[in-house]
Amino acid sequence: MGDIAKLILDGKTYELPIIVGTEKEKAFDISKLRAQTGYITLDPGYGNTGACTSNITFVDGERGILRYRGIPIEQIADQCTFVETAYLLIYGELPNQKQLDDFSNAFTRHSTIHEDMKNFFDAYPSTAHPMGILSAMICSLAAYYPELVKPEPTPKDIDTVAVQLLSKVRTICSFSYKKSIGEPFVYPRPDLKYIPNFLNMMFSSPTRDYKIDSEVVSALRTLLILHADHEQNCSTSTVRLVGSSLANLFASISAGICALWGPLHGGANQEVIEMLQQIYADGSNVKKYVDMAKDPEKNFRLMGFGHRVYKNFDPRAKIIKRRADALLKKLGIRDPLLDIAMKLEEVALKDDYFIERKLYPNVDFYSGIIYRAIGIPIDMFPVMFAIGRMPGWIAHWKEMIENPTTKIGRPRQIYAGHTERKYVPLEQRG
Ligand code: CMC
Repeated sequence: MGDIAKLILDGKTYELPIIVGTEKEKAFDISKLRAQTGYITLDPGYGNTGACTSNITFVDGERGILRYRGIPIEQIADQCTFVETAYLLIYGELPNQKQLDDFSNAFTRHSTIHEDMKNFFDAYPSTAHPMGILSAMICSLAAYYPELVKPEPTPKDIDTVAVQLLSKVRTICSFSYKKSIGEPFVYPRPDLKYIPNFLNMMFSSPTRDYKIDSEVVSALRTLLILHADHEQNCSTSTVRLVGSSLANLFASISAGICALWGPLHGGANQEVIEMLQQIYADGSNVKKYVDMAKDPEKNFRLMGFGHRVYKNFDPRAKIIKRRADALLKKLGIRDPLLDIAMKLEEVALKDDYFIERKLYPNVDFYSGIIYRAIGIPIDMFPVMFAIGRMPGWIAHWKEMIENPTTKIGRPRQIYAGHTERKYVPLEQRG
């Protein structure tokens, strides 16, 4: 028999099995707790609650470690393509040449969207946030491709829907950008690879040929890879929760996109640049903003700082900072916002408030500097995060629905409202 934890409640001792992960992470299993004891656990924000076991991504926040399927993020960011990374996350192994060719070719085959879907873009006001459009469009894929939505998908069905989604998301995102600037859509090209194809759809037009710069492709590749998965974060947990009701992949991921949109999650990259712009316009007084972030009365946070899991440093932020610096130098761009960001980091990291709370720059702190340099508009930043996170969401949805022990997600609560009271008719209410 394995190790057990003992819980003493109302004078009675209960034994809870201990679960140990492959990286020696420890948990005790409370899945029978309520049935045996009548108690539940209370954990707002789920900081201490494991909702599943997973083989996809390992994060050690204390040591600043991130690995996809066991491979350190630094090696993946250095050596993999985004398509290889997606394959690794979804299928668990790096692809051989044939698998990679088949996977890439399928992206080419499925890159277009149903022509009727283009009418959707016309219905949105030009001010619509592209995350709202993206979420609606992804959910609508279920309506336009009903053959992809199976109540009990086979492994082959899952492969097909995954590839369709990974491929079409680029087209949807770039079409929504084109709509917002009033330019005609640029269709995907079969001769271009994943990232150049996206850049071409975004930035070329009938009157302007977009020259694809390998440095830009490489920077974007790094960003997409670094965003590709991060275990049970808010949006991935949302995908799993929605998918646990057996909702289809499109619906589950559409919900994940909405969760990602929030400023505490993927929306932070947009907020960071807006904050840096505000600091710049306000005379680049970095200390004033650090002081504001420390003042509980001010309701202001340093966006791009802090993380639920990383309490040392975010390994992704380190890579992105280097990348941002190198890209700007290569492109000959001098962005004052990068200087402000570096100064902000320097001041915050020496400040007791940030030191005590272990607040470091996260993945969103420097990514916007790269997106700006590439020419991506600020409200598309969370959309870029969503394109990157797509393989992770798919991998988690697949892992969840292929696991026969998965149950519908349904947390409990401790009710703190009124106890029973009488209905009062309208005429007797004060
Ligand atoms: N600026 C100032 N103070 C902060 C910040 C910040 N960015 N982040 C946390 N704190 C303080 C917070 O006020 C609290 O202080 P106290 O103990 O005195 O009440 C303490 O640090 C712990 O914060 P928390 O809110 O309890 O931590 P959390 O784990 O619940 O939240 C977080 C994590 C990422 C939501 C939070 O750090 C935050 O709001 N950061 C800014 C938004 C951001 O950059 N989000 C992107 C996250 S990384 C990419 C992703 O996963 O999407």
